[in-house]
Amino acid sequence: LLNAWTSIGEQHQCRVGKAHLKVFVTGGAGYIGSHVVVELVKHGYEVVIFDNFSNASSNVPTALSELCGVQITVTSGDLRDASALECVFSDHSIDAVMHFAGLKSVAESVADPLMYYDNNVLGSLQLCKSMRKYDVKRLVFSSSATVYGDPISVPIREDAPAVNPTNPYGMTKVICEKMVLDLCRSDPSFSAGILRYFNPVGAHPSGLIGEDPKGQPANLMPLLTNAAADPTAVLKIYGCDYPTKDGTGVRDYIHVCDLAAGHVAALNRCSTDSQHFIANLGTGNGFSVLEVIRAFEQACGIKIAYQIAPRRPGDVAICYADTSYATEFLNWRAEKTLKDMCLDSWRWQEQNSLLGSHM
Ligand code: WQD
Repeated sequence: LLNAWTSIGEQHQCRVGKAHLKVFVTGGAGYIGSHVVVELVKHGYEVVIFDNFSNASSNVPTALSELCGVQITVTSGDLRDASALECVFSDHSIDAVMHFAGLKSVAESVADPLMYYDNNVLGSLQLCKSMRKYDVKRLVFSSSATVYGDPISVPIREDAPAVNPTNPYGMTKVICEKMVLDLCRSDPSFSAGILRYFNPVGAHPSGLIGEDPKGQPANLMPLLTNAAADPTAVLKIYGCDYPTKDGTGVRDYIHVCDLAAGHVAALNRCSTDSQHFIANLGTGNGFSVLEVIRAFEQACGIKIAYQIAPRRPGDVAICYADTSYATEFLNWRAEKTLKDMCLDSWRWQEQNSLLGSHM
């Protein structure tokens, strides 16, 4: 499979010459960013990664070079360091930016909000200022369905209220969205796509990149695959008394590779003409925690031990996307199934024995 990917990478190496559009990817060594890098190279873009590796493994750049079949330029640095950022902008003729770098743990943001405002808001501000200084006018911004807070109704449309998130992490995304939109309104030549992710899960089918959080994971899928790998582990289900089909929380899980394709579609829209838009990236389907567990057990043939635990503070009952705008405007829709998400997550876990990898 790796050879297949390498040969694809080589084919695209020649295409890189044709496209030669250079994309600056902040957080490109992270979970979502690394999968988008693969998709960008596959579509002929040239990539420059900027990452402080606070939540990314140093193995990722090597894995990306193997997967893409081209050497990926990686600069280690922090977005709040204006001189480090401007070195990259002055060294490379950047055509567009994809911005993933930031902290993303809801619980951590509640415990240390100032760290989140510093990293996520000041980092994004410095990035936008550097873009303006170097006349880089295309931006795809990584946002989150967390901006919707506890939704008034589902499926959630982009015009739903997005001003009352339930945690500081979500508020940093609200603030950054507003900043990007105000920049677009102040400069009509600036083009931006704001992408609100629902629940990204899964991994590249090669098993070379995947979700690899430093410290204890918080999200369902990595905890589920850890429980599958460790017979002594018992997965906690946070609450079984929600007003949902089986009492457990319902979310819109989207395969990270589908999410990556949505980013390239958004970049294509930004590249054609100056505009700004907000799009939900989800599947439009909601699955409960118990449904995800059952799907994993059926797909992977592994029984998962779980126990019911109290509700987790800040959790909402149901959250899934109305994806009609993304489908129509970006000509994109998620294609991978929950079974694909489980199989690819498990392959990544097995090939990288995540258990304790960052402990
Ligand atoms: C999913 C469901 C839990 C763990 C978060 C962020 C969001 C985005 C995605 C960044 C819920 C239940 C979980 C467990 C469980 N990240 N669960 N046992 O909270 O929907 O979204 O990640 O952008 O911003 O808020 O994802 O995977 O933590 O939870 O029962 O051990 O699984 O209650 O219903 P969440 P999650």
